[in-house]
Amino acid sequence: MKLSIENRSPVLVKTDLLVINIHDGKIDPHSFAHTIDQRLKGRLKSLIQREKFKGSVGQSRLINTEGLIPAINLLLVGLGPKKNFNLEVIRKIAAIMQKTAQSIHARHITTAVHGGHLDVHSKGECTQALVEGLFMANYSFTRYKKKSKELTEIEAVAILCPEKKYLSEVRKGMAIGSAIGRAVCLARDLINTPAKDMAPLDLAKAARGLKGVRTRLFHRAEIAKMKMGAYLGVAQGSRHRPPVFIEMHYRPAGKSKKCVALIGKGVTFDSGGLSLKPAKFMETMKDDMSGAATVIALMSVIAELKPAVEVYGFVAATDNMPDAEAQCPGDVVTAMNGKTIEVLNTDAEGRLTLADALHYAMRKKPHITIDIATLTGACLVALGNRISGIMGNDDALIKKLIDQGEHAGEKMWQLPLPKEYKGELKSPIADLKNVGGAYAGTLTAGLFLQEFVGKTKWAHVDIAGPSWAESPRSYEPIGGTGCMVRTLAYFLMSGA
Ligand code: BES
Ligand code: ZN
Ligand code: ZN
Repeated sequence: MKLSIENRSPVLVKTDLLVINIHDGKIDPHSFAHTIDQRLKGRLKSLIQREKFKGSVGQSRLINTEGLIPAINLLLVGLGPKKNFNLEVIRKIAAIMQKTAQSIHARHITTAVHGGHLDVHSKGECTQALVEGLFMANYSFTRYKKKSKELTEIEAVAILCPEKKYLSEVRKGMAIGSAIGRAVCLARDLINTPAKDMAPLDLAKAARGLKGVRTRLFHRAEIAKMKMGAYLGVAQGSRHRPPVFIEMHYRPAGKSKKCVALIGKGVTFDSGGLSLKPAKFMETMKDDMSGAATVIALMSVIAELKPAVEVYGFVAATDNMPDAEAQCPGDVVTAMNGKTIEVLNTDAEGRLTLADALHYAMRKKPHITIDIATLTGACLVALGNRISGIMGNDDALIKKLIDQGEHAGEKMWQLPLPKEYKGELKSPIADLKNVGGAYAGTLTAGLFLQEFVGKTKWAHVDIAGPSWAESPRSYEPIGGTGCMVRTLAYFLMSGA
């Protein structure tokens, strides 16, 4: 999708589809809608009155301009009341624009910076959200379709900015929004690719050669040398699709005061191992590397986002397969930090891979550590598929992430890490066992991870729900969502 800035009046631009907004059921005398309505001889005004078009969020009307202005079609979208306005409203409008464009085969669209005039968010922020939404809504996974390119994708978007003084912030918002939008799409591609074509080595290839990022790969023998026994145990049943430990490193141009470590769960297929999952539960388990996809996608655009903080990305990529050589329930493994773990359920593999990745990350002495993982079905039960669970040892960090998630349109809900439940992880024969009891599975998983983070400020985000969309919603088609790319990008750019 090509992006440009259009500095002419909307009544002069030639385009397949021109998108403007109204809110609170009236046309503001200083708005694009007013200028256009004059050319359309008051048709907008009468439509608004006739159809009682309030301009609530999600509302839209397509209008044929019948040659009164050069734009062929006009789409009037609702911004909703000013008091409810936020950046997520803009992303939803972007999805409506994209769907309308698709339905009328409009390839070139021109749009206002929706909400830019409300003074709730700057024009730059509004542009960024608009562009994020457009990239996300325009996404389709076509790798396995005969026709490689969907014919109805938007090809070009021009963003209206007739006022010179806003040009530089709109341009910047466009660049950042485009980087974040493309990153979400890359994460989705990685997740949606079937396990057959997304083995640990394929994931590693996606992490290689990223602009401004130094990537190191460690193969099975090196992983063994580092004594990552918990991680290796999971990979034990996959002789022909070996594990790869991925390290990515970005250093900002200036002096950085902070170092952030991001760890993504990278289980390229979770069959459950010998504690095999029922068939129904396995259907979407190619998505068990969603956390890794998020981290790699973010690193792929980090040179464009240019946060002022140092960032490490880590992924302990592996399959979780049953095999004659696979680890058995009851096996005891020794993690890199020396702790022994009794593996009672081989399907609780994510925490085993993360345990070693977290400990490895600690050696870089990050100020902040965040792991993102499709860790527990229990989190899906507790919070559903629109809200991630967040827990950790630093409430201020968690609050910051939740706040950034609010702007990013990604909801998180803090869950506790109760000391009282630590006993659940006691093993009679090892330092820990990898599963707790029947209840609070998300919390015991979090408590398990806590054993490997030391004293660093740490947050754990369980994305088991939001990582996957069962049905399309607004700017998210069915499949991998690429969740947490936006929140983490915002978080890093805010200085962490
Ligand atoms: N990858 C799954 C968690 C999951 C389930 C993610 C559903 C997305 C949707 C994880 O490895 C797993 O299997 N967890 C087990 C843990 C249990 C054995 C303690 C679970 O949640 O059932
Ligand atoms: Zn599992
Ligand atoms: Zn898993």
